[in-house]
Amino acid sequence: MKMKKTISFILAVLLVLSLCACGNTASSSDAASEPASEAASAEPVSPAEEPAAEEETVLSIKDVFAAHGLKFGSCLSPAMIQAGTYEEILTSQFSSITLENYMKPEYILDQKKSIETGDVVVKFDSTTTELLDWAQKNNMAVRGHTLVWHDQTPEWLFHVDFDESKDYADRDTMLARLESYIKQVFDILEEKGYSDMFYAYDVVNEAWMETGSLRKTNWYNTIGKDYLRYAFYYADKYAPDNIKLFYNDYNENLKVAPLLKFVKTLVDDEGNSLIDGIGLQAHLYMSEDIDKYLSSIDVLAKTGLILEITELDICLGSFDNPVKNAADDDYKAQGRVYYNLINGLLERVDAGTLNMDSLTVWGFTDGLSWRKESKPCIYSDMLEPKYAYYGIAQMKDQAGFDD
Ligand code: GLA
Repeated sequence: MKMKKTISFILAVLLVLSLCACGNTASSSDAASEPASEAASAEPVSPAEEPAAEEETVLSIKDVFAAHGLKFGSCLSPAMIQAGTYEEILTSQFSSITLENYMKPEYILDQKKSIETGDVVVKFDSTTTELLDWAQKNNMAVRGHTLVWHDQTPEWLFHVDFDESKDYADRDTMLARLESYIKQVFDILEEKGYSDMFYAYDVVNEAWMETGSLRKTNWYNTIGKDYLRYAFYYADKYAPDNIKLFYNDYNENLKVAPLLKFVKTLVDDEGNSLIDGIGLQAHLYMSEDIDKYLSSIDVLAKTGLILEITELDICLGSFDNPVKNAADDDYKAQGRVYYNLINGLLERVDAGTLNMDSLTVWGFTDGLSWRKESKPCIYSDMLEPKYAYYGIAQMKDQAGFDD
């Protein structure tokens, strides 16, 4: 695909929209039945030739989702706010962001200060605040990600005197550190005036295995299996009411049974739930049976908790057999999977059987994706909208169903 500037994409979308006046649904016009990537690759139309089109609204997935009461999110990295084209896509298409890395424990825990003070110290560095300031300036809602996790968490946190060369700290010390850490995060959000833009926070990420047993993490090993309950207990104690508390995991469709049992255990002494929602990472492959995936969601939805899709991307091919040298047909197939998944979710939301308030993709362009070889995103690495883009936008005629 050829490199295009965003403006040519926006103008091409305006042209398609003005030709088909299709709103949120697919159109049967000739222009709309063009393959998505070809429509987007049309020669740039000069604004002078198309004055009327400039007054049309740019196609925006956030508006499509808002019509169903959902926010549409992306993860956010520093690269995305330094280049104009990324920013334009973010602000025109998305209403929510999750910091891809910069709120993870290894980015916000300060070893030097922890050693100096004897208590764990949380500190947001300039990149974290820059990203959050950007979100605030652009009226984005924010998902917090993540407090307690086995990965991207410094080893020193679990040792006596925050010194890796010493023994692991005991249970009471680690419970005190857990409480102090969680309290400080919510205090900092409040002090810096960020609290109001947060609507969800991943309190714990990826604690369960597909086998139904708990992952043996440093948190588990130092505190014991009730570290999970304590994490939610402290988050519930310190988070403001507008920030809903989530457990987030991958292979969620294979972990339904343990998750159902687990969330029931998260209650305080009066029997009130300490958890508000389950985050479904949705790192999927095209080989996924979407009906089965949706059935798992139906089971989790019966908990009555909020479900959020938190890190959606859909790789070409399967886990064992990734597609190399992808052809147009592969991208069309991907567009159909995106379409079918989102269609199933929106149907359930509209019917009131699924309490979902947001869907976040883990990056919007293949070029910046953590799984970039498998081209899992809705824009190409050249920032052209893919069939997948139209699949998410529920524009069926352009989502790869045309053969
Ligand atoms: C998990 C985490 C994310 C991210 C991805 C890989 O899904 O929850 O924060 O690290 O892995 O990028």
